[in-house]
Amino acid sequence: MTSQQCPLYHYIQHEKFSLAKSLDDASVVAHKNILLNLYQQGWDHIAKHGDFKRWQAAFAALPLEKTNTFKNGSRIKVGQAEETSCSQSEITAALKALCPWRKGPFQVFGVNIDAEWRSDWKWQRVYPHISPLWRRKVLDIGCGSGYHLWRMLEAGASFALGIDTSPLFAFHFATIKRYQPQAQAFYIPAGIDAMPEHMRSFDTVFSMGILYHRKEPLSHLLRIKELLISGGEMVLETLVVNGDETTCLMPKGRYAKMRNVWFIPSVAMLTLWLERLGFHDIRCVDVNTTSIEEQRVTDWMQFESLADYLDPQNTAKTIEGYPAPKRAILVARV
Ligand SMILES: C[S@@+](CC[C@H](N)C(=O)[O-])C[C@H]1O[C@@H](n2cnc3c(N)ncnc32)[C@H](O)[C@@H]1O
Repeated sequence: MTSQQCPLYHYIQHEKFSLAKSLDDASVVAHKNILLNLYQQGWDHIAKHGDFKRWQAAFAALPLEKTNTFKNGSRIKVGQAEETSCSQSEITAALKALCPWRKGPFQVFGVNIDAEWRSDWKWQRVYPHISPLWRRKVLDIGCGSGYHLWRMLEAGASFALGIDTSPLFAFHFATIKRYQPQAQAFYIPAGIDAMPEHMRSFDTVFSMGILYHRKEPLSHLLRIKELLISGGEMVLETLVVNGDETTCLMPKGRYAKMRNVWFIPSVAMLTLWLERLGFHDIRCVDVNTTSIEEQRVTDWMQFESLADYLDPQNTAKTIEGYPAPKRAILVARV
């Protein structure tokens, strides 16, 4: 990552510069240095990953041309086939070297990436129920590829920051952002615990698909509270089970083959947690059993997926015998 000729090096430096500029404008200025340090440390950490050189080469093999073509919507599109000297098979090969693609869908210079998850379906369930994002500063904790950051900008957010601990997702976000350098979407490769305390900076904080991965879910919710401005909104999407306010599932080991699942409360218990932590106007706006159409194996994610995590005799159960994945969306204010 030392050569200035390297597209990734160029991207990382340019993004740092743009992020610094945006942090000057936003009410997050007091935390600018910490966030910029987190950004740099995050990329330094990624550079030590065993697959880094392969990902870096793939990134370098993507079209070097600039493009003004950007289309937000269900499938996020950058560039068109005729805007680059790269062939479709060259672009496909570069993008395939960044597999597995788990969150999408995207299109890059004419090549469709059908990710494991239809992240657009989740957004369809979330978007009608949240406060309008127009001119809001938003944070997406565990943002994955950043798919939803683009949808938040589409909805009018003035600044959309994503944080995530997965190195490969940083490359997926970069694959789109390098062609939209002026967009106010940013990705910091860091976890929520590294965020400055008591920021009170964001109008909306999203936490989607992460609470059940946390060993201390109440601390996670309290951290979200501290990240929000007074009157700000939390959008929480997480796994739930049926039951009343005394019900919470802690799997004995794996849940749907995932090792890192800790607490799966009922909606009633989740609501109680939020009440006790001081959230207001708590609404459960959606409950949805995840379908094998929404999470599935594709050409871009060829490992196991939801169908392999369910009991083949009874798809209402996971392979371990727990209730199959069901997700709720809760919206609350501080
Ligand atoms: C199930 S995915 C959800 C992605 C996206 N939010 C969505 O709803 O489609 C969970 C994400 O949380 C990230 N993650 C796990 N622990 C995290 C932490 N402590 N801080 C930030 N992100 C984390 C993972 O890398 C992963 O990308």
